[in-house]
Amino acid sequence: MAGLHVRSLLVTGANRGIGLGLVQHFLRMPKPPQWIFAGCRDPKGQRAQELQNLASKHPNIIIIPLEVANPASIKAAAAQVGEHLGGSGLNILINNAGIVKLNALDAETLEDMSEVYTTNTIGPLLMGQAFLPLLKKAAQGSPGSGLSCSRAAIINLSSQGGSISSLLTWEIAQAPSYRCSKAALNMLSKCQSLAYKEHGILCVALHPGWVQTDMGRSLGLPPPVTLDDSVSPAHVSHGASHIPFRFLLLPSSSTSSSPGSWQHVCQGQHNWSGTTEGFCPLETWTGSQS
Ligand SMILES: NC(=O)c1ccc[n+]([C@@H]2O[C@H](COP(=O)([O-])OP(=O)(O)OC[C@H]3O[C@@H](n4cnc5c(N)ncnc54)[C@H](OP(=O)(O)O)[C@@H]3O)[C@@H](O)[C@H]2O)c1
Repeated sequence: MAGLHVRSLLVTGANRGIGLGLVQHFLRMPKPPQWIFAGCRDPKGQRAQELQNLASKHPNIIIIPLEVANPASIKAAAAQVGEHLGGSGLNILINNAGIVKLNALDAETLEDMSEVYTTNTIGPLLMGQAFLPLLKKAAQGSPGSGLSCSRAAIINLSSQGGSISSLLTWEIAQAPSYRCSKAALNMLSKCQSLAYKEHGILCVALHPGWVQTDMGRSLGLPPPVTLDDSVSPAHVSHGASHIPFRFLLLPSSSTSSSPGSWQHVCQGQHNWSGTTEGFCPLETWTGSQS
């Protein structure tokens, strides 16, 4: 955490849940980013009230209207962020916005499969494309040649639910549309990591834990991980024992070109590293780029 020096970042779906938690987390950093762009699809709506209140107290929060399932909205957001940043780039893009539909396999529909895939997978793809020029600019403007969040990064909020080898909560919710969208997001993250490495952009997919948010609670059982535990590395030692990985956004040093320089939280013995399927822990993704 102490090693992270970020001038600007953007979080999609920043008005509630993990997105809002991340914005609050970045505000609490010893050296908060100069600009926190908070993407929100309905900035004037009731569900954006808490974010609006936060922004009124913190002028470094810029609320950006952003519907990730709408290419025109994404383009407009990229233009607005670019204009705001003047000549400088964007250090971190966090593709957090996501939806879940809790259908059983036999009841899954074309409509729900399409809607969830569009939001959870195509959204991050288009976001990566639209913000690539700004991310490249940040990477080019940063000293050093390693890959790190301090330089330029795309962070995709995936889910263990998308893992083919470790199917989190299958007994509680089958949700094939969600699982397929996150499995595809993992592959997208791998593709981005391979394509954008040459531009100096770190790309990772992360599982935040089963977290106490609207989405986490929608499964009908109390989620074990608090929002603070999920977003804040300071809380990592107090986590729920059966959650194998939670995300740590931050490299332990500002030049994280080696896999070992990333921290991760492993509280189980799930051996996912080296697999090509489903969710892979942080060091696998960073390792694939180094
Ligand atoms: N919570 C968990 O246990 C858990 C576990 C694994 C992975 N995740 C992943 O973590 C991410 C955040 O989850 P969460 O628990 O914070 O979910 P959440 O509480 O349901 O919040 C979802 C956020 O995404 C936004 N959003 C949804 N569709 C959007 C769209 N088309 N365009 C723009 N914004 C959109 C929502 O905005 P509105 O307010 O406008 O709806 C909201 O801000 C998701 O990608 C989720 O899949 C969560």
